[in-house]
Amino acid sequence: MKHYEIFSRWSVFMCFFGWWLFSSLKSYSNPVRCQVGAAHLVDEEREAQRGWVTSPGPHSQEIGGDSGCEDAGEAVFPGQDPQWYPARQSLRLDPKGKSLKDEDVLQKLPVGTTATLYFRDLGAQISWVTVFLTEYAGPLFIYLLFYFRVPFIYGHRYDFTSSRHTVVHLACICHSFHYVKRLLETLFVHRFSHGTMPLRNIFKNCTYYWGFAAWMAYYINHPLYTPPTYGAQQVKLALAIFVICQLGNFSIHMALRDLRPAGSKTRKIPYPTKNPFTWLFLLVSCPNYTYEVGSWIGFAIMTQCLPVALFSLVGFTQMTIWAKGKHRSYLKEFRDYPPLRMPIIPFLL
Ligand SMILES: NC(=O)c1ccc[n+]([C@@H]2O[C@H](COP(=O)([O-])OP(=O)(O)OC[C@H]3O[C@@H](n4cnc5c(N)ncnc54)[C@H](OP(=O)(O)O)[C@@H]3O)[C@@H](O)[C@H]2O)c1
Repeated sequence: MKHYEIFSRWSVFMCFFGWWLFSSLKSYSNPVRCQVGAAHLVDEEREAQRGWVTSPGPHSQEIGGDSGCEDAGEAVFPGQDPQWYPARQSLRLDPKGKSLKDEDVLQKLPVGTTATLYFRDLGAQISWVTVFLTEYAGPLFIYLLFYFRVPFIYGHRYDFTSSRHTVVHLACICHSFHYVKRLLETLFVHRFSHGTMPLRNIFKNCTYYWGFAAWMAYYINHPLYTPPTYGAQQVKLALAIFVICQLGNFSIHMALRDLRPAGSKTRKIPYPTKNPFTWLFLLVSCPNYTYEVGSWIGFAIMTQCLPVALFSLVGFTQMTIWAKGKHRSYLKEFRDYPPLRMPIIPFLL
């Protein structure tokens, strides 16, 4: 099979994937009310007991008003419905509002003597760690298949041959380093506040990471690959950008970890520390995303490969959306939030 035929197939696949990703994001933005549950503060005589009754149907159960919303979730669908475990439930005060947090206490909700909680099924859940490990192990492994030119990729005469360009080997080291780092950070650095995420996300995320890894690796390791226009100078500059951004990204992850004592879900305002890489916190709310995008720009300059540039662009778009959301939450949650900060790009975005 000629390489341009494979290119067309990959391109068709990636276009299809883009369309699918777009439509699934769209469906996410229109949450559907699946079922209504209600939690009532019991009438005045009984208010002394501070009892809340959850009444989603036949399985009503009374719990204390000082209970957290996680307990309310358990009470909404007790033992009889084990598939509705609390992690897959979203309880809201407003059908279009934000989900209540597990640790929100019923008594302290901004409601009168009665409140209706709206229930939404978040779908089957899977642990964050499993998701991250699957997302990151895939690209690592897939890239290496192309690097070692295993059979059925580039044709028999290239099986297990090696590229003569140094930049191809360097790119493989950088790509592998990035994903090994992400795997180790997931296992040993991050302290997540949510234990789970919807199972369906893993298919979307893995298609994104694995698909792009294969698309990039196919071109970078192709026997007809040509090194970047400005040769060693371009590669050195790109490598410097990549290494600085990887160090920066790691430093921010460590700084975020230190904000949260082990086992807690505390959220604090992150500030620069003695580590100069964290000084970007002076200007942006999510410098880890800034450094992540920088790493991929470095990788794109190093390899001068279009799919890498597209991956950087798509990643940048996604991380900008998340960074804006996180920035808004910081402003809402902390009155003394530093005003100079932007979400992801200093002074701009
Ligand atoms: N290439 C791409 O397309 C792409 C896309 C996204 C992410 N990434 C990479 O994956 C990394 C992690 O992504 P992410 O979205 O999980 O990053 P994140 O939301 O910034 O979270 C990183 C960790 O820090 C914790 N954290 C964040 N803000 C905190 C605060 N104010 N106080 C205490 N803890 C806090 C988070 O806990 P919570 O569980 O509470 O959030 C999480 O454990 C990124 O930095 C980036 O390197 C890559």
